[in-house]
Amino acid sequence: MLWALFAGELFGTSSIDVLLVVDHPRVEEKLILRELKSIGLRVGLLNPRVSPVQIGGFSAPAVSLVRTVSMFNGLRAAAALESQDSHVVNSSYTIIACGDKAVGYAKLASAGLPIPRTYLAFSMEAAAKAFEEVGGVAVDKPPVGSWGRMVSLVRSRRLLKYIAEAREEMSGSVRGHLIQQYIETKGRDLRCLVVGDRVLGCVERVARGDWRSNVALGASARPHELSSELEELALKAAEAVQGEFISVDFLVDSSTYVNEVNGTPEFKGFMAATGVNVARKLAEHVKERLRA
Ligand SMILES: Nc1ncnc2c1ncn2[C@@H]1O[C@H](COP(=O)(O)OP(=O)(O)O)[C@@H](O)[C@H]1O
Ligand SMILES: [Mg+2]
Repeated sequence: MLWALFAGELFGTSSIDVLLVVDHPRVEEKLILRELKSIGLRVGLLNPRVSPVQIGGFSAPAVSLVRTVSMFNGLRAAAALESQDSHVVNSSYTIIACGDKAVGYAKLASAGLPIPRTYLAFSMEAAAKAFEEVGGVAVDKPPVGSWGRMVSLVRSRRLLKYIAEAREEMSGSVRGHLIQQYIETKGRDLRCLVVGDRVLGCVERVARGDWRSNVALGASARPHELSSELEELALKAAEAVQGEFISVDFLVDSSTYVNEVNGTPEFKGFMAATGVNVARKLAEHVKERLRA
């Protein structure tokens, strides 16, 4: 079984062009592997759950693609590969700037991008004050998470208290709160994908059976016109987190806000809706980097 293999005997030799770092391969990683190979690149696979990754002192392939489901393992593997002078897509900087929502919103805001009004709260007391600040209807999300998990629409202090109590029982990265202004989106958002300095297109994701528009929660994706405003915002957001291959999600009411940047974007819904072969574009980008 291909995915159980680690190209250990190849890794570190000049016979690999690009190292694909995966832990739980999804459709996206399989497509990326196929496209890398089909444009003639020699690919090594590394599963950091199975194989150790050396820090420093070892010569990794010129380019590495980090596609782990575990954000923290991806971050650490990216940093280790960078220490071996590999060009890592996305870099450890980008992975943490996208993977920790507090860091991400801060980077976006620093770059002058519009974000929903957002407060960071580390305790139930602070969360309650933030809830009042945003006007008594809020979105509460943990600093680290994906697929919409634990993202809650809060309309009462009592619900906020229950969420905070549950969160305090949890460990580590999901403990804190981002308390945010609720944007009246009617369960929709927009997603752009950026590779290098190009925006590949835009889809609208429409929630089904939930107020959140994550495809993982049943939302459907359909093509949406890439306006010059969206294109400009997406490129600016990518720049803000130094992202080379990222998705940028927007919430829209009468204004447009950047809600999220994702450093390991899933793109099967985007590909199906737009017909753009995202994996191919990424593979071509890697090839260009190898030539650079
Ligand atoms: N401030 C907000 N206002 C309105 N809807 C939101 C807000 N924040 C999140 N959502 C909805 O919840 C979904 C999940 O939130 P998000 O911040 O993207 O977390 P995740 O990383 O889990 O996808 C979004 O796609 C959007 O539909
Ligand atoms: Mg999201």
